[in-house]
Amino acid sequence: MRLKILVTPGDGIGPEITEQAIAVLREAAALGGHTLNLDYRRIGGVAISQDGTPLPQDTLAAALDSEAVFLGAVGDYAFDSLPPNQRPEAGLLQLRTALGGFANLRPVFAFRELTENSPLRPEIIEGSDILFVRELLGGLYFGQPRAWNKETGEAFNTMRYTHDEVARVARAAFRLAQKRRKHLTSVDKANVLETSQLWRDTVTEVGKEFPDVTLEHQFVDAMSMFLMKRPRDFDVVVTENTFGDILTDEASVITGSLGMLPSGTIGGKVNLYEPAHGSAPKHAGKNIANPLATILTGAMLLRHSFGLEAEADAIVAAVRKVLEAGFRTEDLARTNPEGLTVLGTREMGDKVRETVKEQLLAASR
Ligand code: IPM
Ligand code: MN
Repeated sequence: MRLKILVTPGDGIGPEITEQAIAVLREAAALGGHTLNLDYRRIGGVAISQDGTPLPQDTLAAALDSEAVFLGAVGDYAFDSLPPNQRPEAGLLQLRTALGGFANLRPVFAFRELTENSPLRPEIIEGSDILFVRELLGGLYFGQPRAWNKETGEAFNTMRYTHDEVARVARAAFRLAQKRRKHLTSVDKANVLETSQLWRDTVTEVGKEFPDVTLEHQFVDAMSMFLMKRPRDFDVVVTENTFGDILTDEASVITGSLGMLPSGTIGGKVNLYEPAHGSAPKHAGKNIANPLATILTGAMLLRHSFGLEAEADAIVAAVRKVLEAGFRTEDLARTNPEGLTVLGTREMGDKVRETVKEQLLAASR
């Protein structure tokens, strides 16, 4: 198989982590007899600087023409004073809309080797395995009207959802729960917001199609506490766009670092894969960024867009092995540096890539 992938490295640490992840992807694919057909295009701040827009036409066209889009990260302080619709992030939001994927999957998985990295106690987080399904195309991010009126000193955004927008993401979440531990938690703020009442009503209605899945509802404020107190109690969690953005950064504390959280967005014309973290411009170009979230994002791409389960598993297993062997990027070594070997972005990428190769060779013997 030839995997036609558009790569949009973006800003800050985006290019470095993407380079490592692509090298790992190439290795995993090659050993399964597959090749990558890559196209590289600009998005975000680099595109504003060079093309005058955060999502150039050629990038959009290439994205729609690909089988999967692999994105690094967007955002840079240089554009902080721009209005939201001209910032680097606007390019990402436009791309998400154009590709049409509405279910953003963010698996939060506690690698045993990183237990010590979390500020939470080991007995709280050990064995945590949560799949967040964040609605990605609705809510405050896209609702109209929106404005900041500097004369009157007033600003507003609109949280808006339709029944069908909620139903389709709920259905995706129920299906994923069926393949896991059959437990779905829906998160809303139905004691205050009409959008959340619609959300709760619709998720409950869709739930009737999935009698084998246990559905529970939680308010987002309580949920943010439960995630820290008893993360093991959750299997699949479905929530609207903004709540999902916030809760997944919070949940990354369970994994030990935001640099461990991959993501993939499914359900649209072309799936979009991006680590859940940002562009960290202050760490750019120093070879210190953690490429593991992006590498794990590559595994999601192989699994969800191409059905290459063995190759995807090999990447996840390689990450685990490299961690077991005591290799860490700087962000993962701060709390307990003894006995660990700190690697740069490139060296960590190389380690994972070599380990993928060894594993797949061993399996084919
Ligand atoms: C994320 C990011 C984005 C979001 C930004 C960069 C627009 O924070 O993917 O979580 O808010 O969705
Ligand atoms: Mn975010």
